[in-house]
Amino acid sequence: MTHLELMKDVWYVGYVDFEVRNFHGYSTHKGSSYNAYIVKGEKTVLIDTVKRPYFEYFLENIKSICKLEDIDYLIVNHVEPDHSGSFPLIVKHLPNTEIIASERGVDALRGHYHEELADDLFNRIRAVKEGDTLDIGNGKKFTFVPIPMIHWPDSMVSFMTDEKGKNVLFSNDAFGQHFATSKRWDDENDMCVIMQEAEKYYANILLHLSGLIAKVLPKVGSLPIDLICPSHGVCWRSNIKDIVEAYTKWSKGELDEKSVLIVYDTMWGSTEKIAKALQNEIEHRGIAVKRFKLTTADYSDVITEAMKAKAILVGSPTLNNGLYPTVAEYLSYQKGLKPMNKIGLAFGSYGWSGQCPDEIVQILQDTKFDVMDEKIKIKYVPKPADLDFKLIIDKLIDKMSI
Ligand code: FEO
Repeated sequence: MTHLELMKDVWYVGYVDFEVRNFHGYSTHKGSSYNAYIVKGEKTVLIDTVKRPYFEYFLENIKSICKLEDIDYLIVNHVEPDHSGSFPLIVKHLPNTEIIASERGVDALRGHYHEELADDLFNRIRAVKEGDTLDIGNGKKFTFVPIPMIHWPDSMVSFMTDEKGKNVLFSNDAFGQHFATSKRWDDENDMCVIMQEAEKYYANILLHLSGLIAKVLPKVGSLPIDLICPSHGVCWRSNIKDIVEAYTKWSKGELDEKSVLIVYDTMWGSTEKIAKALQNEIEHRGIAVKRFKLTTADYSDVITEAMKAKAILVGSPTLNNGLYPTVAEYLSYQKGLKPMNKIGLAFGSYGWSGQCPDEIVQILQDTKFDVMDEKIKIKYVPKPADLDFKLIIDKLIDKMSI
């Protein structure tokens, strides 16, 4: 099985999922993978497992590389079931293997798998803390670094130094992408696509954790890393600097350009008329705009654009004295992911009560947006004069400091 060999002494034993299109609500247009690895020194280490439906495939991969009884250690970097789903199944084949997880990882494993595994199994997990090491011989040594809340409280990375080879950061969710490919390395794939998927992954999974990520990144960046092997998507060997710089930028909410996102839905076309008129006025000033109608847009793609926009204009018709359902749903998703440093503007059409712009303002304020005082609220169908937004857009651009 030479196709599984990533480099000398390191093998890929994960599952590449070309079929998945929805990952707990996140749209995965290009599939994903649940990466697991085997490293051989004088001792043999298995790093992470795979989503449970793919256990048999995972098991066959492992058996093609070593005997199960030869696995000395199983490192569990993260307990979310896309990585630990096969844990209760594989440990039954590894009665003598020492299991290693962060302290909170031990709790999380017990919390997830208490129905399937006996208590003594959990008692034989070694809980590691920051800086603890594991020497597996032949020049290879692991150092464990818990990174709580990136992505769960239990998350950790395992950094392997190799006196005779490459230093590898097994980074779990960090630096991952939902991307299925049989080419394991970054430079074997289209880097534009890989970076777009890394960006979408950050926006949908990690964006709300940016404050913590900004604190951890210098620690990770200071390690003498030659290779990064994450738990989703491709491994990094030629573009490590680029992905670490991108994480630094995303975690600080830095933008490449001051663009505008318009996100809305419409019932009978009036709110859409407002959205298009706003787009027109902004584009006339030479500013990039992206406009998404939520009936047809994909929230995972929209939030990726929200992360990159300087201003986000949100529109909804008033329906049943409240928000249009798709707008309410998107705003809830956006509020949870907490895009940083955004200017907000609310707009919408109405027939008689017209609460929507006020509700949008409240939600955007709760999301820590700098919301404009101006609200666009138009009764029934807009007249041409209603769609003159020069003054509002002047103020918006002033706020964006363009
Ligand atoms: Fe890929 Fe947080 O699991």
